[in-house]
Amino acid sequence: MNNPYIKLVKKTDASDIFQLVHPRFTAQISKFGGHLLTFKPTNQDDWLWLSSTAKLDGTKPIRGGVPLCWPWFGPATGEFAGEPQHGYIRSLDWELLLVEGDDKTLTVRLSPNLPSELSEKLGLEVYVEYKFSSKLKISLVTTNVSDKPLKLSQAIHTYFRVDNIQNTEITDLEECHYEDKLTKESNQQVSTIKIDQSVDRVYVTDQSDLSCKTNSTIRLISGAGHDSIVVWNPWKDLAKGMPDFDDDGYLNMVCIEMANTQGLILAPGKTHKLKQNIR
Ligand code: BG6
Repeated sequence: MNNPYIKLVKKTDASDIFQLVHPRFTAQISKFGGHLLTFKPTNQDDWLWLSSTAKLDGTKPIRGGVPLCWPWFGPATGEFAGEPQHGYIRSLDWELLLVEGDDKTLTVRLSPNLPSELSEKLGLEVYVEYKFSSKLKISLVTTNVSDKPLKLSQAIHTYFRVDNIQNTEITDLEECHYEDKLTKESNQQVSTIKIDQSVDRVYVTDQSDLSCKTNSTIRLISGAGHDSIVVWNPWKDLAKGMPDFDDDGYLNMVCIEMANTQGLILAPGKTHKLKQNIR
């Protein structure tokens, strides 16, 4: 696809990446996982956290950036029990479908190379669309190509880079109910979210807006097509237990994920868009 702002960089020691250099931003997308690795608006630091020990050679899902979880979020259950956590597509090679734009915005669309038997079994098709400018818009678009209603879950699992997690506040989820995946309890958020221990929470809400503030940096996050917002930071001990997670990385990241965790039913022929916009 001939576009001056994108080029495929062939790697020998890692998966190929699409390098995007544009007047308003630079970014990198791994062909493995269709995974956005970095996003830097011009003259700004990276908005995304990527572990320096992340495996980029296609041997496991990439730790950091924007993993895409589909067609389930979390551990596989039911007929898929035993299959990988967070679904298949973060461990597949992806194809570039479209690049279009100008010196103000650039849209890049990719789809995973689902093996044909899997594609038939699932009855679902998916692609991701990244719309870049000095902001970032991500859409994960699913179509039911079968003749029966199908159930799925999914997430845009963004790792936000923060200067210091101990000065970070996530606001606007006050009063939302959440499922605490660590204690298995249901709770209600009473104040802004501050993270000083391992946090793994599914806020069951379709509310669109929230923000993440550290020192003078504020990210405004909005979503659509979700039934949940997931907040995750493994903190020290869990981070140490993950070989692809920098030991101190938990101090500089928080995942804020737009997700469907409650079982989204998609009617035959219908298309669903899960969105996360960041500015
Ligand atoms: C979060 C989950 O979305 O992803 C956590 O809520 C999980 O439970 C985390 O640990 C990371 O998952 P993974 O498979 O990338 O290690």
